[in-house]
Amino acid sequence: MSENEKILIFDTTLRDGEQSAGIGLTKSEKIEIAHQLKALNVDIIEAGFPASSPGDFESVAQIAKEIKGPTIAALARCIPSDIEAAWGAIKNAESPRIHVFINSSDIQIINQLKKNREDVLNMAVYCVEQAKKYCDDIEFSPMDASRTDMDFLYQLIEATVKAGATTINIPDTVGYTMPWEFKKRIEDVINNVPNMDKVITSVHCHNDLGLAVSNSLAAITAGARQIEGCINGLGERAGNAALEEVIMAIDTREDLLNVSTGINTKQIYKTSRLVSDITGFPVQPNKAIVGANAFRHASGIHQDGVLKAKSTFEIMDPESIGLSGNSLVLSKLSGRAGLKSRLEDLGYELTKEELDKTFEEFKKLADKKKEVINQDLEILMSDQKRSERSENKYELISVEIESGSEKQPTANIKIKNNSSNKIESSTSSGTGPVDAIYKAIDNLIDIKVTLNEWRIEAVTEGIDAIGDAIVRLESDDSNVIGRGSDTDILVSSAKAYIDGLNKLIIN
Ligand code: KIV
Ligand code: ZN
Repeated sequence: MSENEKILIFDTTLRDGEQSAGIGLTKSEKIEIAHQLKALNVDIIEAGFPASSPGDFESVAQIAKEIKGPTIAALARCIPSDIEAAWGAIKNAESPRIHVFINSSDIQIINQLKKNREDVLNMAVYCVEQAKKYCDDIEFSPMDASRTDMDFLYQLIEATVKAGATTINIPDTVGYTMPWEFKKRIEDVINNVPNMDKVITSVHCHNDLGLAVSNSLAAITAGARQIEGCINGLGERAGNAALEEVIMAIDTREDLLNVSTGINTKQIYKTSRLVSDITGFPVQPNKAIVGANAFRHASGIHQDGVLKAKSTFEIMDPESIGLSGNSLVLSKLSGRAGLKSRLEDLGYELTKEELDKTFEEFKKLADKKKEVINQDLEILMSDQKRSERSENKYELISVEIESGSEKQPTANIKIKNNSSNKIESSTSSGTGPVDAIYKAIDNLIDIKVTLNEWRIEAVTEGIDAIGDAIVRLESDDSNVIGRGSDTDILVSSAKAYIDGLNKLIIN
């Protein structure tokens, strides 16, 4: 057991992460991510901003009810109705937290709030006191703290701690600060605010200059004991500190930092995949910790070293983030037991019925694709989970395409309507095969929708790779991601579109 001081990990994937341009999560997606964050054992889940929309309120309320273990935080501006909404959403949590914030830099106070420092101080104290009447655990964030006048920052923090804040979060809201500068700022806050020893010091760093993780680690050396961030570095603009990087930096350099986290690091890879799958934001191959190349050695010299002793070129064990050491391929000759054991290595515990269904899908895949590797299994599991979502109204039965350089593409689609239990079919032509498929689907599913993005990614190398289709759809004010995978990219495209339409209906 480590005697190091503990760093609390505050995950804001569902709040700041969801603010990433182009991400729109449904309630069931947020709940699924929250369950995985619990498995990762984060200390705090910021589940959302309840005053921002009725949908967000409901998602936060459901997470607060369902997820036991981590503290569930809800964000609120210094506006009484925001604080009421935050409390309304988290009041059933086992361990609720209200996170109150207000602009503190002159640039933002004058230009955005059109107020002065005294107004900000009064609003902050008033709202922290209001929040404290509901809840013991209050976090206060002076927004844009890294560009805030130091004396005013001390004054604001001292007053909000007196008013009842239990965590003070120093955000580098615009990702402006340098690591050594941020370290000094945190040290100065800790040394100059008289009641700072009564609260936990937290930091929340944005990545505009690519320094969010470095700044977070620098803050730890200055005494910060809570780090905020998002899985895969999601978040407003260039994102927040990538939590998997912060966690593994602490784990790998414990000798230097003398702190540790309570994170179950073996869940990191699975969490990253789930968040990428659900948000449709791919993870770049060379991304630290969770990128596809993070543990791959390409050059002869490196491979030679690793074969002799892994420590020559590996500073972390891939298994420590939950990457299975077992990369032997499965094929159509593999049995149920082999599949079950590999899925367990990858972190999937299946019931007998689930295994039967997965085995059936695995056999279909192995018939088309000679070798099935771990990435194929992961995509198969995601596709299955999507198609089994209980609220799905429509289900793809079949796609037939006629296309060619001299032919106008025509698609025939069969879809099952799960509400009426009827199978309906439609044929349409289009400028290309995907256009024809989508027009045929539009004939059957009557939603006014704009297709903002369509893309296909090969899940693995080789001509028989599974194609993972991702679409971004917009209807009224809702934005959703639809995904589908198959070895036939036109089938993937049809599945992705129907997945997106199902989500718009649920929304
Ligand atoms: O970046 C920021 O300042 C925030 C606050 C709400 C903490 O997200
Ligand atoms: Zn932020």
